[in-house]
Amino acid sequence: MAVMVAESRWRPMAAHLAEVLQADGDLHDPAWREAVLAVPRHEFIPRYYRQDNGAGRWVLVEPNDEDSTQRWLDLVYSPTTLITDIADYAGRGVQAPVSSSTKPDLMIRMLEALEVTDGMRVLEIGTGTGYNAALMSHRLGDKQVCSVDIDPQLITDARQRLAGLGYTPTLAAADGAAGLAEHGPFDRIIATCALWAVPTTWIEQLRPGGLALVHIEGPLGAGNLLALRRGDTPVLQGRFLPWWGCFMRRRATAGPTVGPPPPARTTEASTTRDTTLDPGELDGGKYFPFLAQLYLPPGMFHSISIDDNDVAVTELRAPDGSWCETNREPGANGCFALRQAGPTPLWAGVETAWDRWRELREPAWHEFGLTATPTEHRIWLGDPQDGPRWPLPTPDPLAEARS
Ligand SMILES: C[S@@+](CC[C@H](N)C(=O)[O-])C[C@H]1O[C@@H](n2cnc3c(N)ncnc32)[C@H](O)[C@@H]1O
Repeated sequence: MAVMVAESRWRPMAAHLAEVLQADGDLHDPAWREAVLAVPRHEFIPRYYRQDNGAGRWVLVEPNDEDSTQRWLDLVYSPTTLITDIADYAGRGVQAPVSSSTKPDLMIRMLEALEVTDGMRVLEIGTGTGYNAALMSHRLGDKQVCSVDIDPQLITDARQRLAGLGYTPTLAAADGAAGLAEHGPFDRIIATCALWAVPTTWIEQLRPGGLALVHIEGPLGAGNLLALRRGDTPVLQGRFLPWWGCFMRRRATAGPTVGPPPPARTTEASTTRDTTLDPGELDGGKYFPFLAQLYLPPGMFHSISIDDNDVAVTELRAPDGSWCETNREPGANGCFALRQAGPTPLWAGVETAWDRWRELREPAWHEFGLTATPTEHRIWLGDPQDGPRWPLPTPDPLAEARS
């Protein structure tokens, strides 16, 4: 049962959160500040999951006494992402987060980057807890806000929480990749789950001059947010944001398992060699792993695990059975041991991307951009017409695989 929290308790905490966001440079706009002050975030997160670091499992946390209530409120009114739903990952018996209340600093940065003005209609992809829909309803009026989530239970819960606070935005249980044509066109689209490509429906449902904030992420889990403008024609174009944010991936279904199982590895004998490229370069929020994805075949599977010899390895697998495993610790010669098999030399693709990345002088996120049309996606550096360009394979191979 949800814990009741008096206004006299949560309002000062929401005010403190707004101060923290301002002091950290995340919150500038007084209208969004008002929304942070007015919306009780705890109503949207009655329980959450925390990772039990020892066992690596997710444990459900529900406040049930004064101490746990205070710990819960401290977290809720802080710039922290709280995981609110989990599912089995790729049928492997390992649990992965599938829904959350995104950290308010990222959410507010995104809402400010959305550049809304009064009267605009906004579509959110990924309702989750409904907290962000509440902030937008407060700022723009609930009649202007539509939000979709793939999971009907999340929509039911979000609708109830929002209504309890007097907000009745349009909520729908649907695959956000289809947009929400019957309620469009939209001035703004904000996606809080990651995709590999911008669905054509979003390009079509965005008004000329409209803005879409999307998180593009590929099979290595590397990506970032982009602010894309629509012109008079159905083309979206814009740059990656200069700061990094990350979201969970779009799901094709709201099932107990997220993602397809990894492709089977070829039974061909493997070969070995050394590589000077640290597999750790594929981790984290830099642009390089994003670029590497453009040099690998669609439908890749990427994992970090401990192999049979107790060594931490980065593994890549492709749908044609090709695979490679690279030790994450260097050997005595400073190189990383690489084992690989199959028709596609996957690590060579990563090395080619690395050489290109170095040749380009390791540009930052905002130096890259995307042009998306209904038939083609193109990543570019510097200038959309004259700079180096890379095609983004579409349609989204991950989404296809999951359907
Ligand atoms: C990071 S959470 C959203 C956070 C949310 N905006 C909030 O304020 O709490 C991402 C959400 O995207 C949803 N999602 C995943 N795949 C989706 C899809 N195909 N269509 C719509 N929503 C999807 C997930 O169910 C999850 O609730």
